[in-house]
Amino acid sequence: MMVSITAVRDNNGAIPRLYGSDLVAVFVGGTSGIGESTARAFIRNTTASRAYLIGRDQARASRIIEELRQIKPDSQAEFIKSDVSLLREVDEVCMDIKKKEDRLNLFFLSPGTGSMKGPDGMKARK
Ligand SMILES: NC(=O)c1ccc[n+]([C@@H]2O[C@H](COP(=O)([O-])OP(=O)(O)OC[C@H]3O[C@@H](n4cnc5c(N)ncnc54)[C@H](OP(=O)(O)O)[C@@H]3O)[C@@H](O)[C@H]2O)c1
Repeated sequence: MMVSITAVRDNNGAIPRLYGSDLVAVFVGGTSGIGESTARAFIRNTTASRAYLIGRDQARASRIIEELRQIKPDSQAEFIKSDVSLLREVDEVCMDIKKKEDRLNLFFLSPGTGSMKGPDGMKARK
């Protein structure tokens, strides 16, 4: 049975009471689809939080980050450009975040499935 939207909103609304403020989240695939929507819900339902959006599309990321700033000016969103089909880039993005944060509260992975068809094969089907 699918969870009702009311239950989801009630749960999201309880995040500050349950987990406090200053939460840190990483969205690998935060520039589109389910990752983007979850990043938006995270910023909307938290206080003074930080969100890192990982993906390849700088233009989309800039638009989303601007929107997130308007939703919650006291929170921060940052884009880290990375192609996670390359382990070297995964290592780099991990080191980058590790330098800035001593913990993660949410790690959201939605870049689609791996493929042997090269970079285009990594894109989720539309
Ligand atoms: N949407 C849903 O309701 C839903 C429900 C259940 C399951 N899923 C599954 O969740 C996954 C994502 O679906 P979606 O609808 O969110 O897809 P989407 O809109 O295509 O988003 C995919 C995200 O992953 C990023 N991405 C893809 N390949 C990447 C790579 N090599 N390096 C870095 N980032 C990469 C894309 O960023 P860039 O373009 O910036 O690289 C984009 O932000 C799929 O496997 C889908 O089957 C989705």
